[in-house]
Amino acid sequence: MVPVESNQEILDSTQYSTESIQLYEAVFGEDFVSPGGYRVAEDLIKKLKLPPGSRVLDAGCGLGGNAFIMASKFGLMVDGIDLSRNMLAIATKKLKSRDLDQQVNLQHGDCLQLDCRNCYDAIYSRDVFLHIENKSRLFSVLYSSLKAGGKLLFTDYCCGEKPWDSAFANYVEDRGYYLHTLSEYCALMRDAGFVNIESTDLTLQFVEILQKDMLAIESLELSVNVRNKLRQSWEGKLERARSGDHRWGLFTAIKCRSLDQI
Ligand SMILES: C[S@@+](CC[C@H](N)C(=O)[O-])C[C@H]1O[C@@H](n2cnc3c(N)ncnc32)[C@H](O)[C@@H]1O
Repeated sequence: MVPVESNQEILDSTQYSTESIQLYEAVFGEDFVSPGGYRVAEDLIKKLKLPPGSRVLDAGCGLGGNAFIMASKFGLMVDGIDLSRNMLAIATKKLKSRDLDQQVNLQHGDCLQLDCRNCYDAIYSRDVFLHIENKSRLFSVLYSSLKAGGKLLFTDYCCGEKPWDSAFANYVEDRGYYLHTLSEYCALMRDAGFVNIESTDLTLQFVEILQKDMLAIESLELSVNVRNKLRQSWEGKLERARSGDHRWGLFTAIKCRSLDQI
């Protein structure tokens, strides 16, 4: 397993270099590094059905977009943590200009190292867990951090059953992602003690989002080289999603309130 500190350094110097983050944000939309940007985030946060004042962890908050919506539109109290120092530096700057610092607290942190037990009414995470190898530990830490009855909602890049196309296998290896099928994810959550587990395959929506992103790429002010690089990258994503190897999953679950709920 890659030690946490070196994983942070790898992410900050490769996929989440400041330059790459800016490009991702230009395509995904202001404050976001995940498919669908603001619109998808707002829809998913709505699904949590949390009363204002509820305490939420945004695990892998990136540039803070999800946390800002939770606070400004839903009145939630949000702790956002992220392993990438580059992401956090930009997110912290954004937070200062949003007048949300009474509701949003952003910290450098690793999802695997949470030290808060029974703290959160909900844990929300968008396209983060693909970076984490030890999923059993991840779900056990998230479970401990939730209050009884607390909700977990996350989206993540997932995969189809093996064998995969070599293009997809190479992509996963190059990126250093740790992907699971939707049913493997459900089993991991069950093993950690979660109940009411639901999974939804959002791959069709993912394909639609990628197609819109490709139009956006054509309209951005970019150098020829950068535009070509982004085009190529998004065409690859589309192909892999259409092949069925690359899936996008939405998951919800609850930390059981009492043994009666099992
Ligand atoms: C695809 S970005 C998504 C960012 C944000 N959730 C969003 O929706 O815009 C994935 C994020 O996960 C963060 N990340 C990766 N491993 C992490 C870990 N172990 N703990 C916390 N954050 C992590 C990365 O630094 C990056 O900001």
